Amino acid sequence: MMSIARVHTLAALGWMVFGMLFGLWMGAAETPQFRPFHIGMMLGGFLMLAAVGAIFRLWPEMEHWRYARLHLWTMEIGVLGLNLGTLVQNLTGNIALQALFSLPTILGAALLLHGFWVTAERT
Ligand code: HEM
Repeated sequence: MMSIARVHTLAALGWMVFGMLFGLWMGAAETPQFRPFHIGMMLGGFLMLAAVGAIFRLWPEMEHWRYARLHLWTMEIGVLGLNLGTLVQNLTGNIALQALFSLPTILGAALLLHGFWVTAERT
């Protein structure tokens, strides 16, 4: 099974490439109204997930923490849903999907805080 650090980092790099391509299209097509979707992909998808992957790499004992997989999937699904929600908001103005998927993202972040607190070497 792939390590949590690797799954988060692969997802982050995927968001990076996709977000950059989208940024290029947005600039070329002169559609700056999609800026929030681009920002969500770059900051929420790429930078945040890369940072979370790096945390698991820096404190590898967190890989074996009890709620590690629950954290992984709530965070990954949350970020995917949040970004899709931002796209929907850009297209229609409706924020329901964003609101809904903020919940698993927040849960994933809170679990990460818990996991770091109880697992990571206290130095
Ligand atoms: C090939 C790479 C990229 C391309 C082609 C690209 C393209 C764009 C474009 C066209 C805009 C809109 C500018 C405007 O409307 O004034 C923009 C805004 C933005 N981009 Fe990117 N981008 C790229 C990479 C990145 C990266 C790596 C990040 C962050 C890690 C990023 C973060 C942002 C942010 C925060 C804004 C909003 C800036 C503002 O509103 O002041 N972009 N990008």
